[in-house]
Amino acid sequence: MNPKLLDIPIHYSSERLLYRSYTPEDFEFYYQMLKDNWDHLYEFMPTDLMPVKSKEDVALVFQKHQKQWDAKKLFLYGISEKATKVYAGETYLANPDWDVPRIEIGYFMVKDHTGKGFATEAAKATTGLAFEKLHVSRVEMEIKVDNLASIRVAEKCGFTLEGRLRNRERKKSGELIDTFLFGMLLSEWKKSLGD
Ligand SMILES: CC(C)(COP(=O)(O)OP(=O)(O)OC[C@H]1O[C@@H](n2cnc3c(N)ncnc32)[C@H](O)[C@@H]1OP(=O)(O)O)[C@@H](O)C(=O)NCCC(=O)NCCS
Repeated sequence: MNPKLLDIPIHYSSERLLYRSYTPEDFEFYYQMLKDNWDHLYEFMPTDLMPVKSKEDVALVFQKHQKQWDAKKLFLYGISEKATKVYAGETYLANPDWDVPRIEIGYFMVKDHTGKGFATEAAKATTGLAFEKLHVSRVEMEIKVDNLASIRVAEKCGFTLEGRLRNRERKKSGELIDTFLFGMLLSEWKKSLGD
C-alpha cells in the first residue's frame, strides 16, 4: 500500500465520544492536562514527553508529531465527551508497516474520565478507523503485563492475546517488564460487525 494515497480523517466520532487531531494551539491545554494527570499517566508516557518542563516543550513535541503525521507514521487524536465537549483522553495509531499493512493502536483517559467504558469505546472506534479508512489487514496492541485495566480493554474489544514478549520494555523505575501482544485481523473485525 502507498500511504501517500491515504486520506486520513482529522476527526471521527463514536456513540459518546469525539476524536480530533491536535492542532498547534492545543499545546497550552495539553501541558496543563499533563501536569494534572502526571501521576496517572507517568508510567505510560513516551520518553519524548518525560522531560517536558514548560508549555514551549510541549509545543516542540507537537511539531514533531505533526511531522510524523505528515510522514504517515503517527496519528494522534484528542478525545472529548460529546455531551460536555470536555477533553477525556487520547487515542492514536502508530508504528505502521504499510507493506502488510498493519498498525498499532493506543489510548489513555485522563484520570477523571476512567471507569466509564470510554477507553473501550475509543479503542473500538480507532480500530474501526484503522480497518476502514487506513485499510490495514491487522491491528495490534502492546500492553505491559501489569496494566490490568488496559488488558481488560483489549479483551472487551475482542482482540486476541497472541504472545508474551519477555523483558520487552523498561518501567520508569528501571525494572524490565514483559508485554502482551494483542492482535485483531480484518476478518475478525468484520465478524464483530456481523458482516
Ligand atoms: C487503561 C485505561 C486506558 C483504562 O481506561 P478506562 O476508560 O477506565 O477503561 P474502560 O472503562 O473502558 O475499561 C476498563 C476495564 O478494566 C477494568 N479494570 C480497571 N482497573 C482494573 C484493575 N486494576 N484490575 C483489573 N481490571 C481493572 C474495569 O473494571 C473495566 O472492565 P469491566 O468493564 O469489565 O468492568 C486508563 O486507566 C488509563 O488511561 N491508564 C493510563 C494510561 C494507560 O495505561 N494506557 C494504556 C496503555 S497500553
